[in-house]
Amino acid sequence: FEPTDSGAVEIEKDLTPIKEIYQDDFLIGNAVSDSEFEGNRLELLKMHHNLITAENAMKPAYAYNEQGEFDFTAEDSLVQKAKDEGLLIHGHVLVWHQQSREALHTDENGNPLSREQALENLRNHVKTTVEHFGDSVISWDVVNEAMNDNPPNPSDWKASLRQSGWLEAIGPDYLEQAYRAAKEVIDENGWDIQLYYNDYNDDNQNKAEAIYQMVKEINENYAAENDGELLIDGIGMQAHYNLNTNPENVRRSMEKFISLGVEVGVTELDVTAGSDNELTEQQAQAQAYLYAQLFSLYKEHAEHISRVTFWGLNDSTSWRAAQSPLLFDEDLQAKPAYYAIMDPEKFI
Ligand code: G3I
Repeated sequence: FEPTDSGAVEIEKDLTPIKEIYQDDFLIGNAVSDSEFEGNRLELLKMHHNLITAENAMKPAYAYNEQGEFDFTAEDSLVQKAKDEGLLIHGHVLVWHQQSREALHTDENGNPLSREQALENLRNHVKTTVEHFGDSVISWDVVNEAMNDNPPNPSDWKASLRQSGWLEAIGPDYLEQAYRAAKEVIDENGWDIQLYYNDYNDDNQNKAEAIYQMVKEINENYAAENDGELLIDGIGMQAHYNLNTNPENVRRSMEKFISLGVEVGVTELDVTAGSDNELTEQQAQAQAYLYAQLFSLYKEHAEHISRVTFWGLNDSTSWRAAQSPLLFDEDLQAKPAYYAIMDPEKFI
C-alpha cells in the first residue's frame, strides 16, 4: 500500500511518548512496512515505540524466490532498518495458512504431500528461517491462527484446529513439530528467543479454551522430557477488537493463559469504531474508553505481559483504515484514544 499524504504534516512532538508511560510495564510495539522508516512516520514510530513487527515482510511466502529457494533480501533490509533505529524486532511468522508457500505441503494437483515430506519441509522452513534471523529477533510467532473460531468442543483442541495444508499433510502434531524445530536451533546457538502461539478472537472463551488446552498439552509433553522447561513461551492475543468487545472476556482469556505459566503478548491491537474513514465524536470517545479499559487491564497484569503492539501507526494505513481503529489519525495527530491510555484509570 501507499501511505496517504501524511508525509506533509508535522507530528506532535510535545506528547508524552507511550513507551515512556509504560516503561516499567511492557514494551510498546507497532507493525511496520518500509514506509514507516521515512520522514515523520519514522519520527512517530521512534517517539512512541521500542519494538516492531513486520506487518507482512517476514511471512513465509516472502522467504522464497520464484524458484522456491530461500531468499531473505527484503526481510534483511527491513531488519537492518529497525536495528539502525534501535528498535527491537518480533518475528512474524513461521507457520501460517495464509501468505505461505503452498508447495511446502501440497503437490501440483492439490493433494497433500506425504507426512514425511511435509514434515521435512516444515522443519526445514522453520529451522532455516530461525537460523537466518538469529538473535536479531527477541521472539517469534511460530504458529499463527491454527484454531477455528468459536470451536464447539474446545476441550478437544485437535478437533478445534482450522483446516490447513499443514494439518492435512502432517496431522495435528504439526504445531508441536514446528515449535520443536525452532527450539532446536535456538538451543544449539544458545539464543534467548521466546516462542509464541498467536491468534485472533482471543476474547472468545471457546477459542481461548482450545488454545489453552493445546499449549498445556504441548508444554507438558516437552517439560516431561526436559526438566520442566517450556516449549511454547508465550501466547499472543492479537486483540483485533471493536466497540462491542467486552473487556471482561479479554480479562478471562488473559488470566487463563497466564495460569499456564507462559507470558502473554498483546500482538496486533486495534479497535474499530467508525465507518467510511469517519469517526464521530461519540465513536471516538467510545473507542478511547475501550482502549483505557484494556490498558488498565494490561497494567494490572504487566508482570506477565511482554509487550503491547499496535497493528499500524495511524488510521489511514491500517488494514482496517475505513474504521479508524488506531491512536493516531490520518494526519498522524493523537486521537482521544491516545489521551485515554496516558492515564487509563483516570479516564475510566
Ligand atoms: O504486495 C502486494 C502488492 O504487490 C500488490 O500490488 C497488492 C495488490 O492487492 O497486494 C500486496 O499484498 C498485500 C499485502 O497485504 C501487502 O500489502 C495483500 O494483498 C494483502 O492481502 C495483505 O494484507 C495483509 C494481511 O495480513 C494478509 O492476510 C495486511 O497488510 C496485514 O495487516 C494482515 O496482518 C494480519 C496478521 O499478519 C495476522 N493477524 C491478522 C492480521 C490482520 O489481517
